[in-house]
Amino acid sequence: MEIQAVKGTKDILPNEINIWRAIETEAKKICANFAYQEIRTPLLEEERLFSRSIGESSDIVRKEMYTFLDRKERRLCLRPEGTASVVRAYLEHGLDKDASIAKFFYFGPMFRAERPQAGRLRQFHHLGVEAIGADSPYLDIEVISLAVTIIEKIGLKGYALQINSIGCPEDRQRYKLVLENLLKPKLKFLCPDCHSRYKINLLRIFDCKNLECKKIVEQLPHIIDSLCEGCLQHFKCVQDGLKNLDIKYEISPYLVRGLDYYTRTCFEIISPHLGAQNALGAGGRYDNLVSDLGGPSRPAIGFALGIERLITALSAEKEKINVCFAEEPLQLFICTLGEKAKQAVFPLVYSLRKAGISCEINYQDKSLKGQMRLADKLGAVSAAILGEDELRKGVIIVRDMRTKEQKEVPLINLNMLMTELKK
Ligand code: HAM
Repeated sequence: MEIQAVKGTKDILPNEINIWRAIETEAKKICANFAYQEIRTPLLEEERLFSRSIGESSDIVRKEMYTFLDRKERRLCLRPEGTASVVRAYLEHGLDKDASIAKFFYFGPMFRAERPQAGRLRQFHHLGVEAIGADSPYLDIEVISLAVTIIEKIGLKGYALQINSIGCPEDRQRYKLVLENLLKPKLKFLCPDCHSRYKINLLRIFDCKNLECKKIVEQLPHIIDSLCEGCLQHFKCVQDGLKNLDIKYEISPYLVRGLDYYTRTCFEIISPHLGAQNALGAGGRYDNLVSDLGGPSRPAIGFALGIERLITALSAEKEKINVCFAEEPLQLFICTLGEKAKQAVFPLVYSLRKAGISCEINYQDKSLKGQMRLADKLGAVSAAILGEDELRKGVIIVRDMRTKEQKEVPLINLNMLMTELKK
């Protein structure tokens, strides 16, 4: 066909949907256990929500937003992430007036006009979590342990948690001055991208993949060494808490994250199965975002897992991933023989479906053998045969697709048929 899916977007076909549903179901259960509530925000937002929160100089805002003018010349965009939207909704609906902490989770598509490559899409999905209203390091421990629990419960084994602290804005300012002074004499050895990073977003220098730049960057001091006493204590408490929960982590001294709103704790969960784009998910504190967007002071922390990357990593560890995450099979396929049976089967199927039995029938011109083959292909637990003989006798033949045992069941008694199917 001439028209195809937009580059960097993906259809999720029925044969892949089980794993998506399994992840969502498991994650919802775990989030509820951690006392988080679901929130759904629009895919469309005002562009300035993200330029103000993620930052004008971030890669996302500079290069990756799907921004457009609508018919009334308003600058809108497809959301590139969920944190800013959740904070907007939190403020817009006065949820900040409640003294308690607000804890949200969300699923949904995000949009970034990045160069598509393995693990990097233009429409991808986040499972995100935001806890707003406390600066306690214990909340950091809860949020990180929630991310790890989701990953473990969906059955992923190979992953590593990396943490760091990027301190408060004052710490970062101090650190940037140190970096600027150290890098100035080495600028001529840096790649053109790092030149512009030096000018507009210095900390992004740590993301450069260029080997020459890496060599220079790896000589630079760590941000932890620029932290004030309060931020240092906070980070220590987070680490003690993770140890207490037996959650393994590594300190990644150059992990600084690419979104401007972060403060203090930041973390990434990486997988060995993902190649260059190895982050399964990431997050951190954003203590000033609520006030930067016009609200009161409400420190917060959250994370987002990339669902496509979770599935890629799971697929690398598990064979036949869709079988691993298979949902309930089709309970009954009813084969019909002759026009009268075709007519008579409808009230029966309708009643069974309403009573909670999943069933399917044949709509094509197929022989009994062909219908049985279809029942098999659909994975039906039982098949039933309804022909004119059965109609006359007021019965239906029910066949167990595994044992091939057959039984006549009176049609008049739906309960008997249902009991037969539930055996
Ligand atoms: P982020 O690091 O930009 O954080 O995205 C989180 C995760 O989304 C990444 O670790 C990755 O798994 C996935 N991801 C990002 N971009 C793509 C892409 N182009 N294709 C496929 N997957 C991708 C955030 O968005 C923050 N809002 C997380 C957060 C929540 N921080 C605090 N609260």
